[in-house]
Amino acid sequence: MIQEEMVVTAQTKIADGVFELRLSGRIATLVTEPGQFVHMRVPGESGMLSPVLRRPISICSVDPAHRELTLIYRVVGLGSQLLSNTCPGMKIDVFGPLGHGFPVDEVPAGGRALMIGGGVGVPPLYGLAEALTDRGIEVTHILGFRSDKDIFYEAQFAALGETVIFTDDGSHGRKGLVTDAIGEAAYDVAYACGPLPMLKAVQNVITEKPLFVSMEQRMGCGFGACLACAVHTTDAQDHKGYRRVCCDGPVFRAGEVELC
Ligand code: FES
Repeated sequence: MIQEEMVVTAQTKIADGVFELRLSGRIATLVTEPGQFVHMRVPGESGMLSPVLRRPISICSVDPAHRELTLIYRVVGLGSQLLSNTCPGMKIDVFGPLGHGFPVDEVPAGGRALMIGGGVGVPPLYGLAEALTDRGIEVTHILGFRSDKDIFYEAQFAALGETVIFTDDGSHGRKGLVTDAIGEAAYDVAYACGPLPMLKAVQNVITEKPLFVSMEQRMGCGFGACLACAVHTTDAQDHKGYRRVCCDGPVFRAGEVELC
C-alpha cells in the first residue's frame, strides 16, 4: 500500500445520490484482489484538505494498464458531498490498496459463483465478477436496491452473467429480498456484500456451500493500528478473539466473525 495524490479522471452520477468516480495513479497498479478498498481524504470546496477523517471506499473495478480505479459511493454526509464536487483534474489524497478481498481461487475451474449484493455493497462485486469471468467461471448476480432510482450497473453486471434485480418497492425487477432468489441459483461458492441485516440473512440461508462476506465497518487508521474496526470472532476456540476489518478483512469466510 502507498499514499499518493490520485487524479480525478471522471465523476458521473449513476443513480439517485450515487456517483462513479474514476481516479488515476499508481495505486491502481497495486490492487491484487477484488474487494480491497482505499482510504481517502476528501478535498474541501476551497481546495484545502477537509478536516473530516479519511473514509474507506471499496474498489469497484481496476484498469491497471491505464492506472485507473473506479469507485462507486453514495452521498450520505458532508464528506461524500464534498467528494461528489470533485472534478476531472483535481487531486485526492488516497491511501491504498488496503485489506484482503474476495478469494477468487475458491471457485473450482469450470465452476459457478453466486454474488449477492445490496445497495452500495454492490460495487466490489462487479470487480469480483470481472475477475471470476476472466477465469472462465460462470457468474450469477442477485442485487437488491430500494427502488428503481437507486439501481446502477445493471447492464454491466448483465454483460457478465445472469443478473436478478430486486427492489424493496417492486418498482424494477422483482419485489422482495435478495435471499428469495438464492434457492433458485446453482453455484459452488457464494460471495456477499451489503448491509449487515442482508449479510446475516444470506448467512442464514447459505449453510451448505462456501460463503464469503465483505463487511462495511466504521474505520480509523485503515491499516490495523487503532482497533476502531475490530469485530468479535465466533470461533469457540477463539471466543475472546477479534479481527480487524481493515486488515484482516473486509472479506471474511462466513462464520469467522460476528455480524453485528
Ligand atoms: Fe484502525 Fe482497523 S481502522 S485498526
